[in-house]
Amino acid sequence: MDLDLRGKAVLLVGGTRGIGRETARLLGQEGARLALVARDVRTLEETASEVRAQGGQAVTIPADVTDPGQAQRAVAHAAGALGKFDVLICTVGRGFRGPFAELDDAKWREAFDLDFFAPARLVRLAIPHMAPGGRIVLLGAASAKQPSMHQSPSNAAKAALANLTRSLAEELGPQGLVVNCVSPGRILSNRRHERLTAEAGKRGISPEAALREDASHIPLGRLGTPAEVAAIVVFLASPRAAYITGQSVLVDGGLVRTV
Ligand SMILES: NC(=O)c1ccc[n+]([C@@H]2O[C@H](COP(=O)([O-])OP(=O)(O)OC[C@H]3O[C@@H](n4cnc5c(N)ncnc54)[C@H](OP(=O)(O)O)[C@@H]3O)[C@@H](O)[C@H]2O)c1
Repeated sequence: MDLDLRGKAVLLVGGTRGIGRETARLLGQEGARLALVARDVRTLEETASEVRAQGGQAVTIPADVTDPGQAQRAVAHAAGALGKFDVLICTVGRGFRGPFAELDDAKWREAFDLDFFAPARLVRLAIPHMAPGGRIVLLGAASAKQPSMHQSPSNAAKAALANLTRSLAEELGPQGLVVNCVSPGRILSNRRHERLTAEAGKRGISPEAALREDASHIPLGRLGTPAEVAAIVVFLASPRAAYITGQSVLVDGGLVRTV
């Protein structure tokens, strides 16, 4: 199926590692024009080169989107480079961990700043630049539906983001904009692999045993890959997904037991 993304203008925030980087690669293969935003200049340039090698176009915009001023300048820069955005994708976010009783206000603010306020702000800043029929795809988490143990700040922030996705679908639908959230379960990104290995070391078990344990509650019996999540992100970003909005789409190997 041709996703009809050739030449489409995509603002991809957090497209240099993990799920975002796979999304950038796939969009490159589809021939999209990308503005890539992240903090690390080196990985930005590496990703842009990959996108170009795949057949897409890419400009890089270094920015920390938890800083309102930097986020504003990044979106303005992207609009200058791309013109109207056909697509906004925001993948920034991470799991904030620790027992609830040990997490202070600063940790909760840090979690909400990255997992909720950064994407919410980016949507608000991007709206005036969105082309008619534009697509917005945010990265949530399966833990918004089935909270993960000792991860209460990101469970709550991602649940807020899923709820915001519904509100935005209502408010922006009449302008022809569609808004969806992709909610990964346990995905074997480099970051997760490093964390599992470190935790396994502390517990005196092998990384393989920790990985088996992590996968044991997943019906498909394994963790997912960033590419498996990116495929859904790219589909939802495409004109093919014209009649889906307000949804949080689980990509979790069956981890969350809801109907
Ligand atoms: N991986 C999983 O198992 C999993 C599970 C559930 C949900 N998710 C969600 O899926 C999304 C992607 O996860 P991932 O594991 O692929 O993430 P990742 O590997 O940590 O990549 C995050 C991306 O966002 C950029 N970024 C982070 N903070 C930023 C900031 N303040 N300003 C600008 N860019 C920033 C990073 O680049 P720089 O560091 O250079 O800025 C990188 O490109 C996240 O929202 C995460 O919560 C992931």
